[in-house]
Amino acid sequence: MATIIAGVGSSHVPAIGAALDNGKTGEPYWKRVFSGFEKSKEWMAKTKPDVAIVVYNDHASAFSVDVIPTFALGCAAEFPPADEGWGPRPVPVIKGHPELAAHIAQSVILDEFDLTIVNKMEVDHGLTVPLNLLFGQPRDAWPCPVIPLAVNVVMYPPPTGHRCYMLGKAIRKAVESYREDLRVVIFGTGGLSHQISGPRAGLINSKWDKAFLDNLSKNPKKLTRIPHVEYMREAGAEGIEMVMWLIMRGALDDNVQEVYRFYTVPASNTAVGHIILENRGRAGRKHSAAAKGKQAPRRKASHRLAA
Ligand code: DHB
Ligand code: FE
Repeated sequence: MATIIAGVGSSHVPAIGAALDNGKTGEPYWKRVFSGFEKSKEWMAKTKPDVAIVVYNDHASAFSVDVIPTFALGCAAEFPPADEGWGPRPVPVIKGHPELAAHIAQSVILDEFDLTIVNKMEVDHGLTVPLNLLFGQPRDAWPCPVIPLAVNVVMYPPPTGHRCYMLGKAIRKAVESYREDLRVVIFGTGGLSHQISGPRAGLINSKWDKAFLDNLSKNPKKLTRIPHVEYMREAGAEGIEMVMWLIMRGALDDNVQEVYRFYTVPASNTAVGHIILENRGRAGRKHSAAAKGKQAPRRKASHRLAA
């Protein structure tokens, strides 16, 4: 059976991609951001998932305002990087996992979550930047197949946090009914607080962001009842991207092990938030890096790094 072994939350700021692509990671401004992901890359290199499900939003790259699916699951064999105005990012084409994706689509749709099935799709910074932050900059190929799940957070009304959380649970059920023994990591991307236009452009609310991360780790159900208007008011217009983290969280155990957290302000207009949560239930333990005879991350040290 396939298992979700861990969840990763990460901002997906496009300027992070531009810094990577243009060799600026050593500049002090960017060093502060990238240094927070060094431990995460080590964790990912040890964890070696067989598949990553990446929950992200499309920023008018694959979907224009003509068609905006609430939840769109990428079932294709590959997903090229999108042209976001400066040409496609120089990252490898993202290989999908059509068989697992089709299985997830069948399972969650029969569980009454009406996903849009997408068999052709380009993916933008919302997906490629978190991949870089966790997998580094591979030249030719990403280390594992990726199943993109695009969520509408750009045009009202986006899905509620509760709907996202419950979809996460349905995805977990789908993964656990897949016959092959795959170890799956699920990403929630976007956020944290940011607003990129209008009179409140530049808004960042670190206190609210940090409470969000605390609750995400220990008390996620509390987050599922936050109304859209509260995200907008407290975390800025684009802060609504944070509902996507609740899909990731819903796919995990109620009690998780927080193995790493990082928060820094700002990158571009955005508060950068990042968290790694491991499932420690029966299946999670069975599949953890430690159980595979590899060295598990040192949790206390990781926590000390958290700013
Ligand atoms: C920024 C952040 C985003 O998440 C995004 O999609 C676009 C821009 C920013 O901080 O500039
Ligand atoms: Fe975004």
